[in-house]
Amino acid sequence: MNIIFLGAPGAGKGTQAEVVAKAKNIPAISTGNIIREALANGTDMGKKAKSYMDAGQLVPDEVVIGIIKDRLAEPDCANGFILDGFPRTIPQAEALDAMGVVIDKVIEIDVSDEDIVKRMSGRRVCRKCGVTYHIDYKKPLVEGKCDTCGNELSIRPDDAPETVLDRLTVYHELTKPLRGYYAEQGKLITIEGQDKVADTTALTLKAVE
Ligand code: AP5
Repeated sequence: MNIIFLGAPGAGKGTQAEVVAKAKNIPAISTGNIIREALANGTDMGKKAKSYMDAGQLVPDEVVIGIIKDRLAEPDCANGFILDGFPRTIPQAEALDAMGVVIDKVIEIDVSDEDIVKRMSGRRVCRKCGVTYHIDYKKPLVEGKCDTCGNELSIRPDDAPETVLDRLTVYHELTKPLRGYYAEQGKLITIEGQDKVADTTALTLKAVE
C-alpha cells in the first residue's frame, strides 16, 4: 500500500507514519528527515536547504521532487511506502503522478493552529535516529534520552514559536489545497487529531486497514 500523510506542521504525521510503517513493514519516508540528514552531513543540498528550513519556508519543489524520485527507486519501496511531508504543493503532487506513482490512501491529520503551537513547544527529537517525543504527551523512558538509541534529545531549530507561525502560514497557502486535489481522486481520509497520541493512532490504523 502506498500512503501519504498530510497535515499541518506538528499535526502528528511523523508519529503516525512510524506506527504504520512498523505495522505494515514498509518504509516511512520523511522529506524533512532526509533534508535534516543532508544538513548534518554538510552536503550541497543540505547547505542550500538550510536557509529555507530555518525561515520556516518550503525548500524549492525541484529539490524535494529529486529527493523523492531517488528514494522511491530504492528496493525497500517495492512493496509499498509511506510519504510523510511530501507532497506539500500541487506541483509536487503532479510530479508524483507524472512519475507513475499510484497512491492508495491520503491520510490527513487535522489539528487546530492553536494546538499545533502548543505541541511544537514541547517537542524533542533525536538527531541520530529521527524519533520524536513530547515533554507531556510522549515522554521518553529516561528524561532527555532517546528510547531507541540512547542519544541526547534536542529541540528542532524550526520549532521556535515565531518560525512555527511562519510554517503554519505556508501550510495554509501552499499545502492545504492538496486536500481538494486528493478528495477529487476519492483518496482523502481526514482524521481529527486527538489529545492523546494513542487515540490518534487507533484512528490511523483503522484508516489504513
Ligand atoms: P518536516 O520535518 O516535514 O516538518 P513538518 O511538516 O513541519 O512536520 P513536523 O515533522 O514538524 O510535524 P509532524 O506532523 O511530523 O508531527 P510530529 O509527529 O513530529 O519539514 C521540515 C522542513 O523541511 C519544512 O518546513 C521545509 O522547509 C522542508 N521540507 C520538508 N518536506 C518538504 C517538501 N515536500 N517540500 C518543500 N519543503 C519541504 O508531532 C509533533 C509533536 O506533537 C510531537 O512532539 C509529538 O509527540 C506530538 N504529538 C503527536 N501527536 C500527538 C497527539 N495526538 N496529541 C498530542 N501530541 C501529539
